[in-house]
Amino acid sequence: HSVEEGNFQWSAPSNIALVKYWGKKDNQIPANPSVSFTLNNCKTITKLAFAKKDISTALNVTSNSFSFDLLFEGQPKEDFKPKIQKFLERIEIYLPFLAAYHFTIDTQNTFPHSSGIASSASGMAALAMNLMSLEKALNPEMTDDYFFQKASFLARLGSGSACRSVKGSVVVWGNHANIEGSSDLFGIEFPNAIHDNFKNFQDTILLVDKGEKQVSSTLGHDLMYNHPFAERRFAQAHENLDQLISIFENGNLEEFIKIVESEALTLHAMMMTSMPYFILMKPNTLQIINAIWKFRTETKIPVCFTLDAGANVHVLYPENVAVTVLQFIKNELVGYCQNGQYICDEIGNGALLN
Ligand code: PMV
Repeated sequence: HSVEEGNFQWSAPSNIALVKYWGKKDNQIPANPSVSFTLNNCKTITKLAFAKKDISTALNVTSNSFSFDLLFEGQPKEDFKPKIQKFLERIEIYLPFLAAYHFTIDTQNTFPHSSGIASSASGMAALAMNLMSLEKALNPEMTDDYFFQKASFLARLGSGSACRSVKGSVVVWGNHANIEGSSDLFGIEFPNAIHDNFKNFQDTILLVDKGEKQVSSTLGHDLMYNHPFAERRFAQAHENLDQLISIFENGNLEEFIKIVESEALTLHAMMMTSMPYFILMKPNTLQIINAIWKFRTETKIPVCFTLDAGANVHVLYPENVAVTVLQFIKNELVGYCQNGQYICDEIGNGALLN
């Protein structure tokens, strides 16, 4: 099958981990399984234009050299290219047609670039979807299952957590004894029952610090090698995921909150106890956490927080308390955000062909 030129456009969402992935083995194999909510509004939209090289151009390349142009929000973006180049090198054995094409990758995010929200998950997922669309154009008989599984597999090789941004609203990545079909190689939709309490779950992202990340996730994962608490932490992630299986089924939000907040603080505890050590929370991160705890104690409303590898706070709550929680956020938490900025998001369904 010959496909000369054309283009695709996919959007892929960000995701927020409930049980965190922190620590990996070679080839982006996670040291422990993780689970996330897929987001809906924070996403990357990527258009991939491809054109087959003529034979002399195609043969005149040394291995590992791909030809592509990269546009970010319509402008050429040279500093993102090495990461994409490395990604293409890594996945070429799985997509051998790559070297035969010239690509133009035109990408944009729905959230501000400098917001401190990692775009690597949504960005790598959106690119992986596009490349799978090209593979499907070359092999039209490919099944949907193969398409999404391989897309997640490829996205993982770009950025581990990106494999959780492909398909489904609750996604598990990493082998877990009690989750059927779970794999270290790609994310899967959480296969068991999910209680209605989690339907349309809300995530309001409070932008506490929009500065450049102090610790790249690559360095962060590396800090788990020889970390004094690594083995216990990896075992704990399995235990927490085990508990979440029942919590998702019975809808117990009190127990959900305990696991989610403990996971967030454990992630930061790992950074505080590594060598070198880091504190990624800011004073306002702690102000927000304390305000959430006070509000929860006073109102009994099941709202909780989680954190990524940074100072921003994700405020998680069920849809039926959204009006009250948003009022609380506006009255008491927005003052702790940089320039008062926050993003309202909620659980979504994964990548979409536009
Ligand atoms: O996908 P990476 O390598 O950027 O790692 C992401 C790590 C955390 O966001 C901190 C946790 C997670 O599971 O998403």
